[in-house]
Amino acid sequence: MFCREKFGLIRFIAEYPAWKKLEQLYGAQKSKLVLKELFAQEPERFNKFHKEYTSPHDPATTFLLDYSKNLINEEVLQTLLSLAEEARVEELRDAMFSGKHINTSEDRAVLHVALRNFSGWNNVQGWSISEAGASDVPKVLEHIRTFSDAVRSGTWKGFTGKSINTIVNIGIGGSDLGPVMVTEALKPYSKRDLNAHFVSNIDGTHLAETLRLCDPETTLFIIASKTFTTQETITNAHSARSWFLEHAKDKAHVAKHFVALSTNTKEVTAFGISEENMFQFWDWVGGRYSLWSAIGLSIALCIGYENFEALLKGAHGMDEHFKTTPLKDNLPVLLAVIGIWYNDFYGSQTHCLLPYDQYLHKFADYFQQGDMESNGKFITKGGERVDYQTGPIIWGAAGTNGQHSFYQLVHQGTKLIPADFIAPATTHNPIQQSKHHRILLSNFFAQPEALAFGKTEEQVRKEVGANASEALVKSKVFEGNRPSNSIMFPLLTPATLGALIALYEHKIFVQGAIWGINSYDQMGVELGKVLAKNILAQLDKPEDVKGHDSSTTGVIHYYQKYRKE
Ligand code: F6P
Repeated sequence: MFCREKFGLIRFIAEYPAWKKLEQLYGAQKSKLVLKELFAQEPERFNKFHKEYTSPHDPATTFLLDYSKNLINEEVLQTLLSLAEEARVEELRDAMFSGKHINTSEDRAVLHVALRNFSGWNNVQGWSISEAGASDVPKVLEHIRTFSDAVRSGTWKGFTGKSINTIVNIGIGGSDLGPVMVTEALKPYSKRDLNAHFVSNIDGTHLAETLRLCDPETTLFIIASKTFTTQETITNAHSARSWFLEHAKDKAHVAKHFVALSTNTKEVTAFGISEENMFQFWDWVGGRYSLWSAIGLSIALCIGYENFEALLKGAHGMDEHFKTTPLKDNLPVLLAVIGIWYNDFYGSQTHCLLPYDQYLHKFADYFQQGDMESNGKFITKGGERVDYQTGPIIWGAAGTNGQHSFYQLVHQGTKLIPADFIAPATTHNPIQQSKHHRILLSNFFAQPEALAFGKTEEQVRKEVGANASEALVKSKVFEGNRPSNSIMFPLLTPATLGALIALYEHKIFVQGAIWGINSYDQMGVELGKVLAKNILAQLDKPEDVKGHDSSTTGVIHYYQKYRKE
């Protein structure tokens, strides 16, 4: 069993000398960490605080990370990096890559990196992996390749001999969000005549509205569930099968229209899907890190196996960067420690992801689960209640839509909201000679500038003239000094997307390691599930509603009064 104590880590974060120093620095230097002044004092600040990443395997997979618009100076950054060192982030990282059971509560390895390790399947960065199934990764990839080729080429036929033109992925959480986000992000690479739908919600509306768009003769259902016991997914899967059988009549036809992505062979076969139509993965793949596994089948179907592999290879390049680069140049580490500076010292509650690329419109949704299910925890690996902040609230939307809804608060609200701005230099849709894209990017450049440098009262007075009211003047002031990172890459390709996702995955790892929490379980989703099961059994009759508080009882009784079924 791997545990924090075993690695000689101290129990309380405040015992780290770097943590103590950061507290002092925050008190002593906060007033000096003013972006306008820092940039004026250091004309070379961009040079000092930016990095360009290039994949070790592919020079075309590259991006810029500009972190100069953060409330840091060299001393702060150095101390944050010392914190990562004292928390033994490198040792913990190597423990993850080597297959140690860093998911201590579930006694599991965390090896999504092994799914994309094109440098050696049994071996991640020179560490041997003994986890069951790790050496089977290429076999599953081959299964994904042959199956996706057959469906895409039309050789896989439905029960009436027609080719498949619609896929419906039924899954939730990590078995939905990754495939949804990636298929949206990589739409330019997709087979446009293959319709892809994703059903996740137990609300029957989601399935019903999707089935309206499907023809049973040409639809393939992909039941994506690591455990194959998730109530939403299994209920939706059974209803989809009933709908299919209403048309197909014969259960033997299910084999041509239903496949499963799961670790649970027993439940998959009990559902009626044969083992040969099951794409396997393993318990060392966390749900929210599973798009690289068989859960990515819908991605391969949409964009083709070659592009799916390019996505994986892009992520593998970032794994190597994370594994081998010194902390001070390590991009996930830099993002992580700067995030900790705001989260734990400035008291910011949230972190905003703002992609200026419509294709990335699901990016924030995806990392809501990725980050919040990983690091939304108040208990350390050792079982102590933390007395510091852990995972931030992740939110965001695609630019420029966000500008016309919530940016008011980001610019002039009372909260500090660190944000990551993300954009491609080149668009896949250069309509009007890229006029749209230039306008989009002008906003991508302008927003971090406005947030950082604001607008002074003096500037406002000049603009509005002497007759303007004091209230108007004050309302037009932007205090500025609101931090952001900017990430820019040449074009959103599968490999670049893979690298970006892995960048954030490892950022989450580093933050969890410093906070001393287990980023790889999700106990917090359990209680609600248990209560819902109990309530479900009480919904029929008012007299059955027992054991609740008056509020819960009252709301259930209201439902029972008005329901029509
Ligand atoms: O929400 C809890 C959770 O376990 C997630 O971690 C997971 O991604 C999701 O449910 C779906 O689980 P499964 O793939 O087992 O259906």
